[in-house]
Amino acid sequence: MDYYAASEAGGRILGISVVKIDPILGFELLGLVVRSEHHRQGIGRKLVENAVGLAQQSGFSAIYTAVFADNKAMLRLLIGLDFIPVRMTHRVRADGADIMYLKKYFTLYRNVLK
Ligand SMILES: CC(C)(COP(=O)(O)OP(=O)(O)OC[C@H]1O[C@@H](n2cnc3c(N)ncnc32)[C@H](O)[C@@H]1OP(=O)(O)O)[C@@H](O)C(=O)NCCC(=O)NCCS
Repeated sequence: MDYYAASEAGGRILGISVVKIDPILGFELLGLVVRSEHHRQGIGRKLVENAVGLAQQSGFSAIYTAVFADNKAMLRLLIGLDFIPVRMTHRVRADGADIMYLKKYFTLYRNVLK
């Protein structure tokens, strides 16, 4: 696992992303968190864009991640960056919440389906 931090000039960390690289399973964005007082400043999007760039530079054809289905902020962030839902697992959290898997393909999805 690798960790990436977004920090302000003084070095204080504002957000962190965690990525996991597996030669078989692929490139996963495993976690993302931004300090609550710095939400909606574009930090989360930058951290996801950084992970996307790393996956592309490393030669992967896609990046994937899993998000609880009630995490509207993260889902909107990912959909806005052209991640698409690929599957869902039901009732994985203690309160019964579902989890969604999303993927961003670097090759044209239409071509993959042909
Ligand atoms: C999800 C999270 C990382 C987003 O980080 P952020 O830095 O606030 O997000 P950004 O400012 O980059 O927002 C990018 C886009 O995400 C969406 N978004 C972010 N927060 C949102 C919210 N509270 N409600 C709705 N959409 C939201 C919007 O589309 C936003 O674009 P816009 O500001 O142009 O409308 C942050 O809310 C967080 O740390 N949450 C707690 C941890 C978590 O849920 N992590 C993800 C699962 S591992």
